[in-house]
Amino acid sequence: MQWLFDHTGKRYLDLFAGIVTVSVGHCHPKVTEAAKKQMERLWHTTNIYLHSPIHKYAEKLTSIMPGKLKVAFLTNSGSEANDLAMLMARLHTGNFDIISLRSGYHGASPYTLGITSHSSYKPGLANGFGCHTTMCPDVFRGIWGGSHCRDSPVQTMRTCSCSPGSCNAKDRYIEQLKDTLDTSTTRKLAAFIAEPIMGVGGAIQYPKNFLKEAYELIRERGGLCIADEVQTGFGRTGSHYWGFQTHDVMPDIVTMAKGIGNGFPMAAIVTTEEIADSFSKALYFNTFGGNPMACSVGSAVLDVIEEDGLQNNCALVGTHLLLELAKLRDKYEIVGDVRGKGLMIGVEMVKDKKTLQPLPADEMGLIWEECKDNGVLFGKGGLYNNTFRIKPPMCITKEDADFAIAVFEDALIKHKATISR
Ligand SMILES: Cc1ncc(COP(=O)(O)O)c(C=O)c1O
Repeated sequence: MQWLFDHTGKRYLDLFAGIVTVSVGHCHPKVTEAAKKQMERLWHTTNIYLHSPIHKYAEKLTSIMPGKLKVAFLTNSGSEANDLAMLMARLHTGNFDIISLRSGYHGASPYTLGITSHSSYKPGLANGFGCHTTMCPDVFRGIWGGSHCRDSPVQTMRTCSCSPGSCNAKDRYIEQLKDTLDTSTTRKLAAFIAEPIMGVGGAIQYPKNFLKEAYELIRERGGLCIADEVQTGFGRTGSHYWGFQTHDVMPDIVTMAKGIGNGFPMAAIVTTEEIADSFSKALYFNTFGGNPMACSVGSAVLDVIEEDGLQNNCALVGTHLLLELAKLRDKYEIVGDVRGKGLMIGVEMVKDKKTLQPLPADEMGLIWEECKDNGVLFGKGGLYNNTFRIKPPMCITKEDADFAIAVFEDALIKHKATISR
């Protein structure tokens, strides 16, 4: 479930879940049983033959999608899902330009490298024709941000004088998007892609209504809106099943991977019939996409999320974790920001709260190793790799959260003692 064991049998609380992938718990008995049962019956046919798991799964998945999002295409990885979404948007609109947010990660295939905006993943070869990035609306580290921009129990320590219902930071970041559209693209767009909360980018949350207004601008220029739910989907944000619902937007295409299979390699995109129909200009073939094993595992994952009340657990345990972490931010100079929603959490570490200089890699490593030695595994991310990422299996308990907080605080104390020596 939420525990991992090393070669000596020592137990670790897994707060990173194989990079936000083990959604319902390592070796969840119901998912394991579904995989075993399918393994004994049929492994593979390709989707050129009908088999009941693919139909059962597609029906189950589309039944939890809102509005006209009712057609599913199954792939094997998030990069493949985003590749397909990009191709589909270009075919459907007849346009080429695609916009993404700086600091975001959407995959490492030659196509998705264009929308991934993080130099560590750029190979230095030609990629990303027609792909453009716009300023990341990061209300902590970005140029603009205030005291109630985020949809989170914890706000930044910045102040602002925005009246209720208005957000200066949102307006400024939207101006940046307009500027990108006016200067870098043709008048007609194929798509805009964004995660509801940035994953690899370090759990960055945008100002409320940013996505809503961004979607309007993209649609005015003929583009489709793609929600990358690879990390935020399947109840992780707590208040909703899909991250885009927390922004009150309706995407044209939703891409998903990672938690969809609890560690089994599978992914999907869901779109409308109209968009799917325009894709008939080309055949879409994927040997393993929608294979019987993946579909049986995926079905069991959806059942478990429901039966084990995991979305609600994300809200309860996630909010508890966020509020406890915020107390550490108020107490320790190097804890710069605590943010997120549900069990999609980031803790951005800084040299000090005045300059916001990122905590250097060796100091991040010191804290990370100390936590690991004391039985808690964190993730790391963000443009400067200075954000601890907490995205555990969605079954962790409040007691686990308290254990993690205690271990993290001990590591902060040890760091302070080591650095001031
Ligand atoms: C938001 C997001 N989109 C897409 C991907 C790519 O998924 P994959 O590694 O399965 O190709 C990732 C992977 O980390 C991701 O975090």
